[in-house]
Amino acid sequence: MELKGLILSGGEGTRLRPITHTSAKQLVPVANKPILFYGLEALREAGLRDVGIIVGDTEEEIREAVGDGSRWGMRITYIRQEAPLGLAHAVLTAADFLGETPFVMYLGDNLIKEGITAFVDEFRSKEVDALILLARVPDPQRFGVARLEGNRVVELVEKPKEPPSDLALVGAYMFRPVILEAARAIKPSWRNELEITDAIQHLIDNGYCVEAHVIRGWWKDTGRLEDLLEANCMVLEDLEPRCDGEVDGESRILGRVVVEEGAEVIRSTLRGPSIIGRGSRIVDSYIGPFTSIYYDVVVEGSELEHSIVMENSVIRNIPGRIEESLIGKNVEIARSFDRPKTYRFMLGDNSRVGLI
Ligand code: G1P
Repeated sequence: MELKGLILSGGEGTRLRPITHTSAKQLVPVANKPILFYGLEALREAGLRDVGIIVGDTEEEIREAVGDGSRWGMRITYIRQEAPLGLAHAVLTAADFLGETPFVMYLGDNLIKEGITAFVDEFRSKEVDALILLARVPDPQRFGVARLEGNRVVELVEKPKEPPSDLALVGAYMFRPVILEAARAIKPSWRNELEITDAIQHLIDNGYCVEAHVIRGWWKDTGRLEDLLEANCMVLEDLEPRCDGEVDGESRILGRVVVEEGAEVIRSTLRGPSIIGRGSRIVDSYIGPFTSIYYDVVVEGSELEHSIVMENSVIRNIPGRIEESLIGKNVEIARSFDRPKTYRFMLGDNSRVGLI
């Protein structure tokens, strides 16, 4: 069965401000790879070659990062969604691209460890109208939630106050074209979005067959800082250690650490799992477990742990240890020895700083 892919990479990423004031949340690096690339890899792995990417205000940045898709052996079509009016609205926006072909919809900020190949194969072999992925979560009220009878989905609710189960909708869905009719039939929700959850419920109400596949491995919707940091931990756990950069004799590397090409480590201790990106310099510092330092970063005289630092940032002579932090691009955090001894900040809107 021919299948198309649809990756959603619009969205405003309000829960990741200020990073998302200037950048797409789908391009935040997890273990030094933009989140979106994990989704593209999952689709390619499942055998999809014709993939549409729904983009919004960050279109330019996404286009620049992904290009024409040839790197993944895919053909990418960019589809502009004028406003983030919901997942079902995104599907309608892609109607021309999708035509009469069944498709896999993948949310660009989701990471699914086991990939989606088994699930896509299941869809290919069945007569169902939609196949959804579910995962057991401790806090179902934050997600779309499903109630099952066997493998059949009988009820779906978006962010219910009283969840009918602990089965959350994971951000990968498979549909036959009938979902377009359902998306046209529904009304916007309380958050003024056309919810894909409601469109699927509409299929169920009209006698279409919707089945579910409960995933076993980990899955993360990286919309919030804590989830993003956790996703970073989980991907780093599986990293194969290697050293393609330069580490001097006074440095120590403990556990699974990746030092990318052109990175320099001087008089420092790196404790894995962690990754140091190309062209970054770590001097007189400690980089602790679950830390991803992206490219062309400088860390000097500082200690970092359980954090993500994005490209071109500088961290210098910080007295305490930095942890559980997401540091954007071109950020500078440095201890100042000037008088008067004061804190000096230039922070974007919605920034968060924790001092000791
Ligand atoms: C969306 C869906 C929700 C699903 C979640 C998975 O939520 O509406 O049903 O469980 O993605 O990541 P949103 O990120 O829009 O809050």
